[in-house]
Amino acid sequence: MSKIITICSTKGGVGKTTLTANLGGFLASLGKRVLLVDADMQPSLTRYFEHTYSAPAGLVSLLLDKNIINTISQTNSGCDLIRSDDTDSRLPIELAKSDFRLNLKESLNDLSPQYDFILVDTQGAKGPVQDAAIIAADILLSPIPVEALSAREFLDATLGMIASNRPSSRFSSYSIAPLYGLIYRADHTRDAALNTELLTEAISIMAGKYQVDMTLLDAKIYASVAWREAASLGVAIHTLKKHPMANRSLMAVIAELGLLPKAEEAEEKDGVSHD
Ligand SMILES: Nc1ncnc2c1ncn2[C@@H]1O[C@H](COP(=O)(O)OP(=O)(O)OP(=O)(O)O)[C@@H](O)[C@H]1O
Ligand SMILES: [Mg+2]
Repeated sequence: MSKIITICSTKGGVGKTTLTANLGGFLASLGKRVLLVDADMQPSLTRYFEHTYSAPAGLVSLLLDKNIINTISQTNSGCDLIRSDDTDSRLPIELAKSDFRLNLKESLNDLSPQYDFILVDTQGAKGPVQDAAIIAADILLSPIPVEALSAREFLDATLGMIASNRPSSRFSSYSIAPLYGLIYRADHTRDAALNTELLTEAISIMAGKYQVDMTLLDAKIYASVAWREAASLGVAIHTLKKHPMANRSLMAVIAELGLLPKAEEAEEKDGVSHD
């Protein structure tokens, strides 16, 4: 059975797609079976890696028909992909009409035996597709901008969105996954360190207010042009051998989320620290 990780935030441009593609590419390089799901109408994740096979169908089929047949594309990163194919913007309208919110969860459960990890990228806004992706998750992961103001805005809006998906009855067939915050585009300044302290405080207040189970990861992803370089080359950052820092950060995220068995984790950390 796979772990479904939804990368979400109500804020645009915070690094969701970059994180999804690179975490996926990194896990695939460790021999894991990874499926990327592009649940953003702007198909950035779909375009991140080159396709070695483009399936005729994609996200629309999962969300509207619970149909997984002919939806799996393949990429040169080693990750499979369900592409975003809502070219005529039907999804938000169709999903608003009826309760399709569980369709993604049920479709991904059908795909679960084939993968170790399913990573779902979402659009930086509230909406029914994001709701479906939140409900489908075993783990929610949000990149958090380190600037104090954006972080506060993130917390209020993103925690509000997650809380609004809490099932109304305890007999419901799903529960909301724990949320992990990942400080994103950090730098090594004193300001950043101070903001991390303020953020930790703000999280405990906001998580209490919205009753969301949220943890701030110790791991951080640092700002570097290398992430943009990797994106424009259509590759995962770990393949650009000159960026061991990025590898270490990704490995730290994987370790804190408990995605690998301990023995495998130690082996990989050792490998990463020597490159
Ligand atoms: N660690 C990083 N350091 C510097 N730049 C980065 C980093 N991660 C991502 N970027 C750049 O930031 C921009 C936004 O990233 P990305 O597209 O991943 O965000 P997003 O949250 O998916 O945005 P959207 O809400 O539009 O989908 C991209 O140009 C990307 O290359
Ligand atoms: Mg994106």
